[in-house]
Amino acid sequence: MTSALFSPITLRGLTLANRIAVSSMCQYNAQGGSANDWHLMHLGQFAMGAAGLVMTEATHVSPEGRITAKCLGLYSDDNERALKRVIDFCRQYGVTALGLQLAHAGRKASAHTPLDSGAPLGPDEDPWLTLAPSSLPYGPGWHAPRAMTEVDLAEVKAQFVAATERALRIGFDLLELHAAHGYLLHEFLSPISNRREDAYGGRLESRMRFPLEVFEAVRRVWPEDRPLGVRVSATDYVEGGWTVEDTVALATELKAFGCDFLDISGGGLDPRQQIPLGPGYQVRFAEQVRREAGIPTWAVGMITRARQAETIVAGGQADMVAIARAMMFDPRWAWRAALELGAETPHSRMYARCHPSSWPAASTMVDSAA
Ligand SMILES: Cc1cc2nc3c(=O)[nH]c(=O)nc-3n(C[C@H](O)[C@H](O)[C@H](O)COP(=O)(O)O)c2cc1C
Repeated sequence: MTSALFSPITLRGLTLANRIAVSSMCQYNAQGGSANDWHLMHLGQFAMGAAGLVMTEATHVSPEGRITAKCLGLYSDDNERALKRVIDFCRQYGVTALGLQLAHAGRKASAHTPLDSGAPLGPDEDPWLTLAPSSLPYGPGWHAPRAMTEVDLAEVKAQFVAATERALRIGFDLLELHAAHGYLLHEFLSPISNRREDAYGGRLESRMRFPLEVFEAVRRVWPEDRPLGVRVSATDYVEGGWTVEDTVALATELKAFGCDFLDISGGGLDPRQQIPLGPGYQVRFAEQVRREAGIPTWAVGMITRARQAETIVAGGQADMVAIARAMMFDPRWAWRAALELGAETPHSRMYARCHPSSWPAASTMVDSAA
């Protein structure tokens, strides 16, 4: 059997061994924005294989752009050195391509980690001033952000560019801008959070302006041969919010600016959201954007089984799948999927002898005593 999931895909000069990405997952364990030994282990385990691509967690372009004080950043020489150590380690022992997700949390910054409630920092907990398109809090009890001035817009754009230059020096293969989950770039897109009356707010074209400007500036410094994509929320899951039709329009614009893929997630902008959770609940959005904008898409959200992922890629619903929780639960997810689908996939050399095909004939992955 030939597996579509385990067929290679080429994005610009990068060929991934298969269509599986380890999705970005915040670890809330950085110090001053810098990665540490936890990140060696966390990303290192995935780098051994065999997803085609491992994405870093949301990595923020400024200290104020971090969701929490424990989030990863790429705004200082220390951050760059620390992340380079992790990526060099993954390269030395791993077999996967490595991608960076660049982010700015906007009005959802200055919060506790989800493990510590996820609530905004209180007045005596060293909160910081957050930025957003408009001075509208995320929800009741949240910080009122400062509506970004023209100077703020230029500064944040420059921060994305500076972080991209650091990413290049570190040696990432692929870059993704985080414009989903209610963070800054998403806040510009959605009519719920963007009530500006200048050239960056109002009609759809104007709300897309800042994210497109950031994309264009990053594309200019990110090398021609390396893929650059965007994670979006296809919908706010709230009446009157950002819609999948808007996402198709954004994807069409991004494609014209040299965007190589859209990673299609959803929600996160407004606590009133109603998300119909279920297996593959966002795949239909990846399919629609792929079909209508003609751009490669990644599907994400409760993709947990090998045959489910195979069906998504083989059926042309998405070009890749991004998997988060199932990967954390089983970092060998892709090895098992390859076995189930009868496909070949790279293993770290030191672990080559673990493949069940090299076990004694009587042994199987299934417990025969059961
Ligand atoms: C612990 C955790 C951290 C996450 N951090 C990020 C992140 O840094 N950036 C991002 O875009 N999505 C993040 N997500 C969302 C995942 O990438 C993914 O889109 C979501 O969990 C749905 O996929 P799943 O059902 O395979 O887990 C996170 C999810 C989890 C569970």
